[in-house]
Amino acid sequence: MSRYWSTVTRALSPYVPGEQPKLDRLIKLNTNENPYGPSPQALAAIRAAAADSLRLYPDPNADALKAVLARHYGVSAAQVFVGNGSDEVLAHAFIGLLKHEQPLWMPDITYSFYPVYCGLYGIEYRQIPLAADFTLRVEDYLPRQDDRPGAIIFPNPNAPTGCLLPLDAIERIVAANPDAVVLVDEAYIDFAEPPSSAVPLVSRYPNLLVVHTFSKSRALAGLRVGFAIGHPDLIAGLERIKNSFNSYPLDRLALAGAVAAIEDDAYLQASCRKVIATRTRLSARLTALGFEVLPSAANFIFARHPRHDGAALAAALRQRAIIVRHFNKARIDPFLRITIGTDEECAALVEALEEIVRG
Ligand SMILES: Cc1ncc(COP(=O)(O)O)c(C=O)c1O
Repeated sequence: MSRYWSTVTRALSPYVPGEQPKLDRLIKLNTNENPYGPSPQALAAIRAAAADSLRLYPDPNADALKAVLARHYGVSAAQVFVGNGSDEVLAHAFIGLLKHEQPLWMPDITYSFYPVYCGLYGIEYRQIPLAADFTLRVEDYLPRQDDRPGAIIFPNPNAPTGCLLPLDAIERIVAANPDAVVLVDEAYIDFAEPPSSAVPLVSRYPNLLVVHTFSKSRALAGLRVGFAIGHPDLIAGLERIKNSFNSYPLDRLALAGAVAAIEDDAYLQASCRKVIATRTRLSARLTALGFEVLPSAANFIFARHPRHDGAALAAALRQRAIIVRHFNKARIDPFLRITIGTDEECAALVEALEEIVRG
C-alpha cells in the first residue's frame, strides 16, 4: 500500500494469473495453453510483418482482421469487435455493456476475472450457485417479475469446470432476457464436440454477445488477440469504450498473425482433434485411478480424488516438476484443473499421479 495510491487502487483485488515459471524441463499444465503451437502460416505472416512498416501505427479499426472473422463466422464486419486478448474485450464489455442498476448475474464458479472487473468498474453482481454436479441451471437465469438481471455473463464451456451448456439452453436464457445483455464467453468452444458456438444466434438476438479468443484453440496466447460477435449496436458500444481507452490495441504483428490463423482452418481443426483425443484418453486413465473427472468440452479437465486433498496433490505434482492449477476456493478446492498437454506430457502426469495416489 502506498500513500500515493488512489482510493480505487487501494480497494482493488487484482486477478492472479496462472504461474509462468522460468524453469526448463517443466511439464506445464496450468494455464490452458495449446501444446501444439500456432499455425505455420500464422508464424510466417508474423515474420513477414516484422518489417520497416513497424514504424507506422497499425490500423486502429483492424479492418482486415474484422473482414476475415466476419467471413469465417458468417456475419458482417459491423458485428465484429477485436481486442488485445479476450480479457481486454471482456473488460470493455463489463464497463460498456454489463454495468447497470440491476446486478450482473454470473455463476458462483466461473472465470475468476469476472468479479475482478466488477471490482474495478464498481459493478454490482450476484453469484448464482451451479447445481451440485457443477452444471448451470437455466431456470436460475430466467427473470422474475421483481427480480431481473442488469446483464448476464458465463463462459461456455464453463471455466474451470469444462462443462458445456447445450445451445438450446443458451437460447432459452437469451430469449427470456430481451432487456439484458447476455455475454457468452466461448474461450474454449472449439474443443466442444460437436462444436456448438452461439454465434449463429446473434442474428436473431440483439442482446447476445459472444466472445472468443485466439489463445486456446489457435495456440496464440502470446499474441494477445480476442474478439466479440454481436449486434452492430453492441459492437458500436464496445468501439466507444475502446476509442476512449486505447485506439491501437492490436499491433501489426498481431493483426497479421490473426488473419493468417483464421485462414488456416485446417490447422485449427487438426489441432483440436488431437487435444480432444488426448482429453478422452486422459479422462479415462484418471477415472481408472479413482478420480472423479467432470465431463469436459474444453482443453482442460477438472478432477478430484475422493481420498486426496487437491492442494496436496498439486504440491506433490510440483515436486515432480508438473504444474497444474489448484483453486483455494469453496466447493472446488478438492479439484485440480489440468490442461491437456501432448500425449507424452499426459502420460507423465498419469504416472506421477499413480505414484502419489497409490502411495
Ligand atoms: C473463460 C476465459 N475467458 C477468457 C480468457 C482470457 O483469454 P485471453 O485474454 O488470453 O484471450 C480465459 C483465459 O484463460 C478464460 O479462461
